[in-house]
Amino acid sequence: MEEERILDPEKLEANEDNLSLRPTLLKEYIGQEKIKESLEVYIKAALSRHESLDHVLLYGPPGLGKTTLAQIVANELHVNLKVISGPTIERSGDLAAVLSQLEEGDVLFIDEIHRLPRFVEEILYSAMEDYVLDIMIGKDSSAKSIRVDLPPFTLIGATTRYGDISSPLRDRFGVIFHLDYYNIKELNEIIKRTALVYNAKISDEAALELAKRSRGTPRIANRLFRRVRDFAEVKNEGNISLDVTKYALNQLGVDDGGLDLRDHKYLKTLIEIYKGGPVGVEALAASLSEEVSTLEDVYEPYLLQEGYIKRSNRGRMATEKAYKHLNINYMKGLFA
Ligand SMILES: Nc1ncnc2c1ncn2[C@@H]1O[C@H](COP(=O)(O)OP(=O)(O)OP(=O)(O)O)[C@@H](O)[C@H]1O
Ligand SMILES: [Mg+2]
Repeated sequence: MEEERILDPEKLEANEDNLSLRPTLLKEYIGQEKIKESLEVYIKAALSRHESLDHVLLYGPPGLGKTTLAQIVANELHVNLKVISGPTIERSGDLAAVLSQLEEGDVLFIDEIHRLPRFVEEILYSAMEDYVLDIMIGKDSSAKSIRVDLPPFTLIGATTRYGDISSPLRDRFGVIFHLDYYNIKELNEIIKRTALVYNAKISDEAALELAKRSRGTPRIANRLFRRVRDFAEVKNEGNISLDVTKYALNQLGVDDGGLDLRDHKYLKTLIEIYKGGPVGVEALAASLSEEVSTLEDVYEPYLLQEGYIKRSNRGRMATEKAYKHLNINYMKGLFA
């Protein structure tokens, strides 16, 4: 059985992105300062010119607030938001139907846009560029193409895999933003905001501890918060103290670097089986019985950013920090 992965940045529970937890205005959105500054200017300009906002591509690891940002943009523009997801659109007709229902200025959010089938994606090219829809009617010799005008609209695309976006699609976005992991101060703020929304009592030290162990990811911060709150309710009359927080996080298998059992398994495999690397990602994925894409999208971004691993053209390597974290002698690792 799959062990529970509390630190998985992907959405796990249906109620996870609790609506009241999502900020609805740009000024309530914590962190990503550069993106906020630019968006504020673009939104103001679009509003004052009564034009639609340029198409926006958001990319970055899961759980960093891409969907939230799209909702905020639609809200600040006072327009409707229509949300669809790349993998659920199988026929070009599905996308055409969505596009033809848009009203002037609306925001269409396409999550996982890199997973749109190519022949569906092609519909977007003229829709984004000229606000027209070219649809094929009929089959074979009787087939003809008709052109339908669309109202000006804004496409916001989100992806965890920038490299998988085709260049014709990428070129049609006026604005491309990369979302980065949040720093501890920002996560601390997010956790305090969450506590306020849930009307829970949390000490400053406890909030900071949670922030440190949240993997730079608001979704994880909010999930850990909920788990820790459960422990606090049962064991500490609802007070989220530092002690309860540490206790709960240890119970959950989250260490003080924010790494969990599966990160440990990744690093141990890299160090013990492959002598710290370099090893190709395919071999590593096979040893861990995981998909290469899971390693690349979910595990490695944080391990890389925190300097536990390095990536070279010869493969993955464990750094000295990884050895230290796991209490394995670095020199011994090197010369074994
Ligand atoms: N800047 C932020 N300030 C406060 N809360 C945030 C922020 N960013 C994200 N969150 C919270 O984190 C959760 C996850 O955010 P969101 O669903 O927008 O991430 P995502 O990038 O769309 O993830 P995915 O790639 O899995 O779709 C939401 O519940 C939201 O409330
Ligand atoms: Mg999302």
